[in-house]
Amino acid sequence: MAKTNKNYLSGKEIRAIARENKKIMKSLEAYKNRKADESEYLTRMKNKDNILEIDKLHTYFFTEQGVVKAVNGVSFDVPQNATVGVVGESGCGKSVTSMSVMRLIQGPTGQIYSGKIRFKAKDKKGKEKVYDIAKMPISDIHKIRGDQIAMIFQEPMTSLNPVFTIGQQLDEVTFIHNPDATKEEARAKSIEMLNLVGIAMPERVYYSFPHELSGGMRQRVMISMALASDPRLIIADEPTTALDVTIQAQILDLLRDLKDKIDGSILLITHDLGIIAEMADYVVVMYAGKVIEKGTVDEIFHNPLHPYTIGLQKSKPTLNSDSETLYNIPGNVPNPINMPKHCYFKERCSKCTAKCWGEYPDMIQVSPTHFVACHLYDEE
Ligand SMILES: Nc1ncnc2c1ncn2[C@@H]1O[C@H](COP(=O)(O)OP(=O)(O)OP(=O)(O)O)[C@@H](O)[C@H]1O
Ligand code: SF4
Ligand SMILES: [Mg+2]
Repeated sequence: MAKTNKNYLSGKEIRAIARENKKIMKSLEAYKNRKADESEYLTRMKNKDNILEIDKLHTYFFTEQGVVKAVNGVSFDVPQNATVGVVGESGCGKSVTSMSVMRLIQGPTGQIYSGKIRFKAKDKKGKEKVYDIAKMPISDIHKIRGDQIAMIFQEPMTSLNPVFTIGQQLDEVTFIHNPDATKEEARAKSIEMLNLVGIAMPERVYYSFPHELSGGMRQRVMISMALASDPRLIIADEPTTALDVTIQAQILDLLRDLKDKIDGSILLITHDLGIIAEMADYVVVMYAGKVIEKGTVDEIFHNPLHPYTIGLQKSKPTLNSDSETLYNIPGNVPNPINMPKHCYFKERCSKCTAKCWGEYPDMIQVSPTHFVACHLYDEE
């Protein structure tokens, strides 16, 4: 990728960078659209107890203004039967990470530039196979997307088609996974799924259009669609942000119940620490496209180490806090197109030392499960 040390670029240099980036986009796009034998993307898990291992993932957007490194070397695992929560402020790369796992990054601008996404899948005969999703040609993604990995989005109205009934959309999911099913079988399965997600009068909802349902009901429908294929991993990106608090609690309960029912794992993306505390076994804290701390929910809540994580905890509203006492992390995230060489949190950090002017900090292991990227812990 074209780089320069100067602060300003001439028109000629800008055009040269654009040409080079176009070349990179083209070759990544061709790689994505190639035909490949399964053996090319079969791999092994580092730890057999994980269902997903994201390893040094880089997902970039090649914009006219420059390269946005939205996900810049992210690594974390999702263990089997666990819920992993990803937190971080708006724009830190949570959604781009999950869209990369689903291979939903919009090309040619958006591309997985490098890294591995190992996923333990089951083939049609029930045999376990590990795929590197980042290497899979897009034509093979149906093997995992919507089948073994299901995604629940923030705003169900944008994911449901307004011109088809709920029943038509649910039946469609059954037909995709079981093309030999009869219309009656698909209908029975759809009504069973609506029942499972706690929808009262599922027969009536089956014949309703999305706009006839409340937000909470629509999210339940989305969850039932996600579950129709018995996924091994559910990715829920801000699944309750558009809902009011009581419905939010019901949807979270539902997700928890369903995780046990399908015996699977959840990757839960949210900016709400309260939801994380309630739902997650492990927490990944992201900042400006990088993981800056990760650990068990207990480690992150009772022994947060990174100054950003500590700030996040302090800025969490409680029953006793008012707008004057609520902590606010000062400053802004650096420009994603021109990230500094040093720690990205430096300009906002009150614990910054001389060392922080140097290289970006390495990820330090402080317990078997707790990791932090901050120079304060270098010697420990
Ligand atoms: N299509 C795109 N083109 C250019 N940049 C993009 C595109 N999509 C996302 N980005 C950039 O990638 C970065 C990460 O975005 P992402 O959507 O993952 O954030 P997020 O953590 O999910 O935030 P939020 O909490 O607001 O949902 C942001 O800086 C965003 O501007
Ligand atoms: S590395 Fe330095 S600047 Fe960055 S978070 Fe740690 S103390 Fe703060
Ligand atoms: Mg998002």
